[in-house]
Amino acid sequence: MPNSNCEPMPGRSNSLAERDIEYVLHPYTNLSAHIKTGPMIITKGEGIYVYDETGTKYIEGLAGLWCTSLGFNNKRLVEAATMAMKKLPFYHSFGGKSHPTAIALAQRLMEMAPVPMSKVFFANSGSEANDTAVKIIWYINNALGLPEKKKIIAREKSYHGVTLMTAGLTGLPNNHRDFDLPLDRVLHTDCPHYYRYSVVGESEEEFATRCAESLRKLIIAEGPETIAAFFAEPVMGAGGVIPPPATYFKKVQAILEEHNILFVVDEVICGFGRTGNMFGTETYNLKPDMITVAKALSSGYLPISALMISEGIFDSMLLESKKVGVFSHGYTYGGHPVPCAVALETLSIYEEMNIVGQVQATAPVLQNGLAKLAGHPLVGEARGVGLLGALELVKDKETRDTFKVSDGVGATLAARAQINGLISRVMGDSLAFAPPLIINTDQIEEMLAVVKKSLDETLDILVNNGLK
Ligand SMILES: Cc1ncc(COP(=O)(O)O)c(C=O)c1O
Repeated sequence: MPNSNCEPMPGRSNSLAERDIEYVLHPYTNLSAHIKTGPMIITKGEGIYVYDETGTKYIEGLAGLWCTSLGFNNKRLVEAATMAMKKLPFYHSFGGKSHPTAIALAQRLMEMAPVPMSKVFFANSGSEANDTAVKIIWYINNALGLPEKKKIIAREKSYHGVTLMTAGLTGLPNNHRDFDLPLDRVLHTDCPHYYRYSVVGESEEEFATRCAESLRKLIIAEGPETIAAFFAEPVMGAGGVIPPPATYFKKVQAILEEHNILFVVDEVICGFGRTGNMFGTETYNLKPDMITVAKALSSGYLPISALMISEGIFDSMLLESKKVGVFSHGYTYGGHPVPCAVALETLSIYEEMNIVGQVQATAPVLQNGLAKLAGHPLVGEARGVGLLGALELVKDKETRDTFKVSDGVGATLAARAQINGLISRVMGDSLAFAPPLIINTDQIEEMLAVVKKSLDETLDILVNNGLK
């Protein structure tokens, strides 16, 4: 008989690890390697730290998955969830139904929005919010008599989710390969990573012009009348933490405006203080028609995401809804009262603690620390903004040559960091940092010291193996 107290089934393997291998299908995991190596099992969290089943303590250098901005044991969020659960454990927003918490959260988000927005649609994940944005764009372009204007442009190395549509928008080969993606209507333009893709002698501004002109060429080649929208993260996250080069978004936005192309800003990582402003939209002076948020909206404590849309988009939706009778889209759990209550409490805490001021005060310690590590023989580039950063490893600092994928150098560094007490994430050969926003300067120094030690150990390993 199944049991609910985490006990093994009689006659089955005993340890949590064995039961994990037996029963859990892991996302973003090498499935065959996992059978041999098994899981890392986290059982407890406290502030910026988590503990594994043996009691070993780690700094969570990526706030879980870029989300637990308030750390791992915020009592107020637990209390908010408990109260909401006791009062109204479920209600929905279909067919015009509503409840006070969703209304309050929608109003709060509209008041906070970095550019004027009109309505909020709630979903459960970043992928769903972005997917919804695409569906609404197609829906309104039909309303507007533009049935050909349906293609969506995203960027190489972007990350917008894993649903059928958003996995295609995501510009990472592993999200497409053998999933038969992207779907048609998806196009990709250049990744604006200055360090990696600029040519010798090219300034950041010149590089930004080249990226923008390449976007223009793509639009012209496809026909501007076929391009509906452009998706972008203010700082590309899962692609390796890539802030935009100077003047990039200004140039891109001018082209979008020229061709009547909607701009969807994916704030799933950048939203709520991460870049040193409440939204990445403010950091880079963006003018989105739609914004998606998730993750730090609830400090990751419960699943919730939101899509904000402009007045103009809503007006077009009204047209189409009148024509077809109903806006037939929605998720059972979208705007669920419990995550909405947790999100409201999260936003109150951000306001009370002045999260933006806090990030502005601590970010220089992270960014200066990473910049110092750029002097390490293995580090080609240190980059970042706010409490978001990355170190990119290179085989040769001069030529910027990368290691072979099969050398697994990024993975070695991440493994050393974990042994030394830091959980981080490696993307290719870039190690990313997005600690909980409550991290203090001593804790940032502690994290940087682990990174330095782990870089030195990785270098030793490479030298011993003749790879450096
Ligand atoms: C920028 C961005 N957009 C969308 C998503 C997808 O969010 P989810 O995993 O909640 O579907 C992510 C996830 O990391 C993300 O980083």
